[in-house]
Amino acid sequence: MGDIETHPRIEQIDRVAPALRVLLGEPNAPALVRWQSEPHRNAIVIDARTDVSDTIEAIRTAIALAPKPVAVTVTGIGTFVASQPEPPGRVAGKVAFVTGAAQGFGAGIAEGLAAQGAYVVVADMNVKGAEETAHRINETVGAARCIGLSVNVTDSGSLQEAMRKTVLRFGGIDIVVSNAGVLKAGSVKTQPVQDFEFVTRVNYTGYFLVVQHAAPIMAALHAADPRLMTDVIQINSKSGLEGSNKNGAYAGSKFGGIGLTQSFALELIQDGIKVNSICPGNFFDGPLWSDPENGLFAQYLRAGKVPGAQTTDDVRRFYEAKVPMGRGCTVPDVLRAIYYLVEQQYETGQALPVTGGQVMLN
Ligand SMILES: NC(=O)c1ccc[n+]([C@@H]2O[C@H](COP(=O)([O-])OP(=O)(O)OC[C@H]3O[C@@H](n4cnc5c(N)ncnc54)[C@H](O)[C@@H]3O)[C@@H](O)[C@H]2O)c1
Repeated sequence: MGDIETHPRIEQIDRVAPALRVLLGEPNAPALVRWQSEPHRNAIVIDARTDVSDTIEAIRTAIALAPKPVAVTVTGIGTFVASQPEPPGRVAGKVAFVTGAAQGFGAGIAEGLAAQGAYVVVADMNVKGAEETAHRINETVGAARCIGLSVNVTDSGSLQEAMRKTVLRFGGIDIVVSNAGVLKAGSVKTQPVQDFEFVTRVNYTGYFLVVQHAAPIMAALHAADPRLMTDVIQINSKSGLEGSNKNGAYAGSKFGGIGLTQSFALELIQDGIKVNSICPGNFFDGPLWSDPENGLFAQYLRAGKVPGAQTTDDVRRFYEAKVPMGRGCTVPDVLRAIYYLVEQQYETGQALPVTGGQVMLN
């Protein structure tokens, strides 16, 4: 990414690039915009103003006066090169930032969105896993749609850096999936407060920080074209809708997440940002449950938690029987909820259960 981090007007990029997606794109189809330090021979050249709004206005005026360029150089900031995203797909051309996407639900969500035409950042503190997942998805969908980036959602600086890299690579963010989450079960009578605070920090504070850093970038797209809306989608849990025995740290963090979703939704709709949570039931096929060594099926079998169970399959059947629809939640179930929330233009602040009927709203 060159020496951009040291530039004095670096913060203008977060607003200039999303505006250029609109100015260099088609109606209702923002372009992808990639930053580069080198000049581009077909770029029009604009001087950066002290105030970023003035910079954007100068670019808008210059573009209106000439045939639409493919690139814009903003003196001292760099060159932004536009390309038109490739259709088709339900989220064609959208830029998605998915946290905790190296494995589990997050990896499945990233792959599903990329297969439907999105450009996806696989963001995870397991950077090797993130890069491998991004590479695997690119091979599966047969196009360079994903990049893997290192992100710790509890660390403001790491989020700022990853989101800036996203803006430099794609020009903005249309969909944030706040998926990274952890679980440490334990009785309130004995659970160390460090465990409680760890879960709270990732699941609750982490969601706050993700939105804090993404919202200004998403707002910049809406400011450039008020018809365009963007989406924050938090992967919550059925444990965000009803309590979970000896699992209070997790359930509390997820209940809190719904309070954040409702509050962010009220504030951010003025920026065209919809904010919703999805509350999946148990993902029995994911590593949390099915890891042969440390998965919950293996743990519950060893602990004798399910009376009469001889194998992990017996434990699984016991938990499946608790679901009216008789099975666990899958990645395609969650993806359908994501597409609904993105396509729905008249809903925000909701918590959408995807539990096979296990949890029903009042
Ligand atoms: N597994 C389930 O049964 C289930 C059910 C309902 C909801 N959920 C929710 O779905 C989400 C994903 O769950 P999963 O089961 O796929 O999890 P997982 O444990 O399989 O994967 C979580 C990913 O998040 C990453 N991560 C953890 N802490 C992070 C941090 N601080 N910063 C960045 N990345 C971090 C991990 O490296 C990992 O790649 C979580 O929010 C979870 O609460 C899971």
